[in-house]
Amino acid sequence: MFVSTFVFTSVHSEASNDVNYSNDVIYQIVTDRFYDGNPENNPNGDIFSENCSNLHKYCGGDWQGIIEKINDGYLTDMGVTAIWISQPVENVYALHPSGYTSYHGYWARDYKKTNPFFGSLSDFDRLIDTAHSNGIKIIMDFTPNHSSPALETDPSYAENGAVYNNGTLLATYSNDPNNFFHHNGGTDFSSYEDSIYRNLYDLADYNLNNEVLDQYLKESIKLWLDRGVDGIRVDAVKHMSQGWQESLMSEIYSHRPVFTFGEWFLGKGEISQQNHYFANESGMSLLDFRYGQTITEVLKDGTANWYDFNKMIQNTAENYDEVIDQVTFIDNHDMSRFSDEGSPNRYTDMALAVLLTSRGVPTIYYGTEQYLTGSKDPNNRKQMENFNISTNSYKIISQLAQVRKSNPAVGYGDTQERWINSDVYIYERQFGNNIVLTAVNSGTSPQNITNLSTALPGGTYRDELNHILDGNSISVTQDGSVESFQLSPKGVAVWQFNGPSTTPMIGHVGPMTGKAGNPITISGEGFGSSEGTVQFGSTNASILSWSETEIQVRVPDVTAGKYDITVSNAKGTISNKYHEFEIVTGNQIAIRFGVNNAYTEPDENVYIVGNVSELGNWDPDKAIGPMFNQVAYEYPTWYYDISVPASKEIEYKFIKKDSSGNVVWESGSNHVYTTPAQGTDTIIANWQ
Ligand code: NOJ
Ligand code: NOJ
Ligand code: CA
Ligand code: CA
Repeated sequence: MFVSTFVFTSVHSEASNDVNYSNDVIYQIVTDRFYDGNPENNPNGDIFSENCSNLHKYCGGDWQGIIEKINDGYLTDMGVTAIWISQPVENVYALHPSGYTSYHGYWARDYKKTNPFFGSLSDFDRLIDTAHSNGIKIIMDFTPNHSSPALETDPSYAENGAVYNNGTLLATYSNDPNNFFHHNGGTDFSSYEDSIYRNLYDLADYNLNNEVLDQYLKESIKLWLDRGVDGIRVDAVKHMSQGWQESLMSEIYSHRPVFTFGEWFLGKGEISQQNHYFANESGMSLLDFRYGQTITEVLKDGTANWYDFNKMIQNTAENYDEVIDQVTFIDNHDMSRFSDEGSPNRYTDMALAVLLTSRGVPTIYYGTEQYLTGSKDPNNRKQMENFNISTNSYKIISQLAQVRKSNPAVGYGDTQERWINSDVYIYERQFGNNIVLTAVNSGTSPQNITNLSTALPGGTYRDELNHILDGNSISVTQDGSVESFQLSPKGVAVWQFNGPSTTPMIGHVGPMTGKAGNPITISGEGFGSSEGTVQFGSTNASILSWSETEIQVRVPDVTAGKYDITVSNAKGTISNKYHEFEIVTGNQIAIRFGVNNAYTEPDENVYIVGNVSELGNWDPDKAIGPMFNQVAYEYPTWYYDISVPASKEIEYKFIKKDSSGNVVWESGSNHVYTTPAQGTDTIIANWQ
């Protein structure tokens, strides 16, 4: 029985589990390009392109269009269980001097209003209700990094970055006495700091240390959550301080927890420690660009092979604490589409089959199932031309979405390479006794597969893709060896076994962080129908609901820090451990800490460490930094925006660390600072 004892302020229907997307398939829609369900709301004049011949302009797609495509079964029959829509908020109306418009939704003007070209608030409510009654979650894009294009010196450029609070002007870029924006020029992407505190292209970059703006953005996202939004995709997370974003996540998770993932773009071959740190510590997941780039290299560019892919799978499993929560894809609106004119659609089909059976939450970019092409923005954002439900891609998505839904090995399992050469990859996903085995041959000759082992129990297994990609059945002996078979050229087969556990097994915990009292959902199987206990470390959590596969609890009131979670069923059988759930000290706010006169040797950087877990509990290895010293303040002043508990007396010190880990502490007594109850602040000390 599902008993929800905590009260949501939402006025609209809820989809089932908003913090666990492991069994879902996300479909990413550029709202303007999907389907025009209401020509009445299309823009007039020069920002509209009647037949979508100018891809920089609005083409008419809207929420009514999405509603119609839910109602006619196009999305549900494809197996889509979540839709990521363009940012729904009001955007600029101006035509950009280069002929661009805000059809993509990334140029916000007023976060408390809707983009009228997508629909009214009641259209939005109908979209939410239609989605929910069809088992679909709605994820909204959100851009708290910037407003819109602006030039410091030319107020007539676009809309001068103007941002409004429900109709009241807050600031423009060239008239900004209260510092809503950074005025540090555009970033050259040369460092993390430069990317955060300077403009991304010509986009007016927010000063998130401004308390009116901080409150406005947090209030705004809560309004959308209250309308029933089930997930958030945060734009440009590499361009905002992690500290502010942690305070945002704390606000969201204390208000109404939903799965949140950020966009941290990585190019081909790019691996970033900061990206891993962000995914592990910020409270939100990330779009898995490393996955997307690698599968592109293997199946589209031919510049990498399955050994590289397998290495990526193994490395990311180590780099990301919650690899199953990272959001995977084969292409998106900022990359070349996977399908190419002139090259066979078969590679898109194979890539989708791999995507949907891999770890991570898969996202299908709209139109991939129709083999839309286009290598660069805006050609990779063409309008949907047809909604053909008999393409191979459509059928593959539909088949494998079912497997994802019914077999927890896909959502929760780890990945084991079972057979590999440069053309062939056979990998097994396993969660308890649930198994999904996938074989792909990207080469143009058949491959003899001998000596393949599997955890599948003895028996014969049919291809879950129904031979759409020329897959075969396999026979497995009692000892787990697969009888030799031929894997077809450009063939993919998927075999599965459902073996539900009778003892508790945790597959997923969400959100991955929270303060005492926040609701947390634990998913898995074998929990039993009668209530047992859930422990954070050695403390029992109070239970809100309990079922065979899903438990809701409240984060217990214990000292902040990282705690392993276990579930015991009613008979006392204990589950596997979910590692290091992070309990934060309380409501979080973002504070700018700084230190003057901190002179360092080459190879030394300044960090901050203090008496709360957010400041590393005096452990120099967990000190926050390296702090910055180039843009907002300059060396020998160092600064960093950090999420810390509100209304709390904090003690801290600055330290110098070099790359070998040598630590120099400040002398004197600890700095002491009481954080405000809400808002933001800046506190600058002198190095002592
Ligand atoms: C990343 C988005 O995906 C991209 O399309 C957008 O232009 C930039 N962020 C700026 O919002
Ligand atoms: C840890 C102590 O708790 C703190 O008070 C002190 O300032 C530093 N170590 C440096 O000695
Ligand atoms: Ca329209
Ligand atoms: Ca920024």
